[in-house]
Amino acid sequence: MNELAEWDIVTGVGITALGVAAGRAMETHREGGLVSDPYAEAFVEAAVPPVPMPTRLDAAEDLGIPWESMANYMGVRSRYFDEYFAAAGEAGIDQVVLLAAGLDVRAYRLDWRPGTVVYELDAPKVLSFKGEVLTEQGATPRSDRRVVAVDLREPWVVPLRDKGFDRTRPSAWLAEGLMPFLPNLAKEQLLGSVTELSTPGSRICIEHVDDVRGMLQEPQFHDMNKRFGIDMEALWPDEPDFGPAEWLSGHGWDVEVIRSADVAEQWGRTLENPDQDPMRSSQFITAVRR
Ligand SMILES: C[S@@+](CC[C@H](N)C(=O)[O-])C[C@H]1O[C@@H](n2cnc3c(N)ncnc32)[C@H](O)[C@@H]1O
Repeated sequence: MNELAEWDIVTGVGITALGVAAGRAMETHREGGLVSDPYAEAFVEAAVPPVPMPTRLDAAEDLGIPWESMANYMGVRSRYFDEYFAAAGEAGIDQVVLLAAGLDVRAYRLDWRPGTVVYELDAPKVLSFKGEVLTEQGATPRSDRRVVAVDLREPWVVPLRDKGFDRTRPSAWLAEGLMPFLPNLAKEQLLGSVTELSTPGSRICIEHVDDVRGMLQEPQFHDMNKRFGIDMEALWPDEPDFGPAEWLSGHGWDVEVIRSADVAEQWGRTLENPDQDPMRSSQFITAVRR
């Protein structure tokens, strides 16, 4: 594992997991919120980030960061993937892999089929911070949660299998907030490993943004990252676009793609404002292994 996997929850790519948790905390406290995450606020409070992150919308004004739109987007994306896992459970799948789990607490907050195993893959320091806070909070998982500390740019199949992953049984995978951080070769290897480990009927959901680096040119996204002290330009490899939907279609998966803006509309939300919503062009890709 190289030194980049040494990032923690307030540095490098790790802090992005904290920003997402802040978004989920705001959405949790909001009336009519699309996600209820009981630990998101505790993570933000425990981390003491270098730039304060609000956990309530009324504390988010005047910070020069479009937190409201971020919380809105996190609500839409979290709810969409929550429903994906509910459908996977109804189809009998009880093996789940969160690729770059960050501070995702689905293992604690969703109603899983009895016996469901949830594997959480992420960098070691992100997972240890998460474990400490959840222990302090007295949190009890509603699934058999197993953490796997890995660098997803390197081979991770063996560590996952060592934790008990069973490649003879169907699985449901999620890559939420991950793909832009991986070089194209790692993206391809990741999808190759998922394919190798997925029996027919297995599923994957991926959050994808075409021309993700184009977002860096949007003034409000640029300002937000500057205020945050996050150098997204350095975190997102500058490479030609990689299309997970096309890759999956060509490797034995039936693929469906929906724009997050259309998902938002189903729940009476909007993501279309170019001045507010840098993630408005994102897509949610769902694929089922043939
Ligand atoms: C934006 S956060 C998303 C976390 C989580 N999926 C969520 O939506 O709450 C990105 C996460 O990707 C993880 N990550 C990025 N590159 C990674 C890599 N090469 N190996 C392991 N984890 C990685 C970071 O540590 C961080 O937790």
